[in-house]
Amino acid sequence: MSNNKFINAVISEEQGDESLPILRGTMGPEAVDIRALYSRYDLLAFDPGFRSTASCKSSITYVDGDKGVLLYRGYPIEELAEKAHYLEVAYLLMFGELPEDDELNVMRESINQYGILHEQVMSFYRGFRRDAHPMAVMVGVVGALSAFYHDHLNIGDRSQRIQAAIRLVAKMPMIAATCYTYNIGRPHRYPVNKLDYSSNFLQMMFGSPAEEYQVDPVLARAMDKILILHADHEQNASTSTVRIAASSGANPFACISTGIASLWGPAHGGANEAVLRMLEEIGDVKNIPKAIARAKDKDDSYRLMGFGHRVYKNFDPRAKVIQKSAKEVLEHLQLDDPLLDIAMRLEEIALEDEYFIERKLYPNVDFYSGILLRAMGFPDSMFTAIFALARTSGWVSHWLELQEDSTHGIDRPRQLYVGKPLRHFPKDR
Ligand code: CMC
Repeated sequence: MSNNKFINAVISEEQGDESLPILRGTMGPEAVDIRALYSRYDLLAFDPGFRSTASCKSSITYVDGDKGVLLYRGYPIEELAEKAHYLEVAYLLMFGELPEDDELNVMRESINQYGILHEQVMSFYRGFRRDAHPMAVMVGVVGALSAFYHDHLNIGDRSQRIQAAIRLVAKMPMIAATCYTYNIGRPHRYPVNKLDYSSNFLQMMFGSPAEEYQVDPVLARAMDKILILHADHEQNASTSTVRIAASSGANPFACISTGIASLWGPAHGGANEAVLRMLEEIGDVKNIPKAIARAKDKDDSYRLMGFGHRVYKNFDPRAKVIQKSAKEVLEHLQLDDPLLDIAMRLEEIALEDEYFIERKLYPNVDFYSGILLRAMGFPDSMFTAIFALARTSGWVSHWLELQEDSTHGIDRPRQLYVGKPLRHFPKDR
């Protein structure tokens, strides 16, 4: 069906065949501009889950789910994961171009300047049960930062917006690492300026106050890749949540906290943790057919975690990079993780199964990221926290973009009301 036929079908017959404009981006499907639909035709667009809705214009990230393409500001994710460092990617996402050396130095200096948490923030950690999930702590701590940076923050001023965005990226490694050290009862650590972003996160996670932490360059590079691969993914649930919160002019720290909350769910960022639980539950290659049968059973809510994606209907380009990285790290550490064997066999079997082929269900980024993170020594509960750490650069980029889009007011979806029609309170009650 051509676009025009569709548009004419949208407009009721009484309105004639007046059509709505088509908007064209630089890549990807065209969009019907339905902004006048309600005011001109008294019609709403019904699209629960936003499967066919472009909620905004954005020039940050492009995903072609059918071709398995992911571009940050036009650069393929595979090239960035291979050649760039996370801070370069964060700069690229925020400002649109790869940084020159001097620009990167300024960014590094700002990250060093803002990387340490305000000492009073530590009392927030102490308010949590020590076994609290890191994501619960992160939602709270990042939200609480809005109390530290609110009164003097004018988000109408570009330089203050950039400062807030960089502050968030800078503080997130210490925020995430402290969730872990608090949980295991070890003193928290501070960033060390001579280390790069990923190495710093590793030393704050695993370093002990009693001895100098030796950064393993293979692990630091793997960490950097994980952060790059998870940095942005256009209008996913958590980014859309950040944008919706931001559309009201809310404090940026509070906005990012909403993104962390949304990311936590097992259908989104929580999937990497769920993948490991699933692989452990399967336990042995011989149990894979049973797991596949359960995933296919309509009466069973069981799903193969790490399979399927709302947008990728071919393959997830991030999954390929992370699978390679997982193998490299396991080899480097001389680890033989039986879960990797189960994962690889599960992937093979599922990819030959009609059910998964028909529904275009391929392994997504989370399928291998859990195995990689586990090999690097991270406990399962930190997996989604690391995703949040990585995604912060994407969230703040979208936050910055939204603040600079003067055509975008407060987000306010409508609904198709299916409740009771008007009725009156009973007189005899
Ligand atoms: N295992 C078994 N069946 C599945 C799976 C799965 N993982 N995913 C989808 N299906 C089936 C689903 O039952 C449905 O079948 P039918 O057409 O017979 O009713 C069909 O595939 C389409 O499913 P859907 O729920 O409409 O697809 P969606 O695009 O709304 O959901 C998803 C995408 C990622 C939520 C889903 O595939 C899923 O739950 N996957 C497992 C969780 C997971 O790995 N999430 C991480 C996503 S990637 C990280 C990120 O970017 O956040």
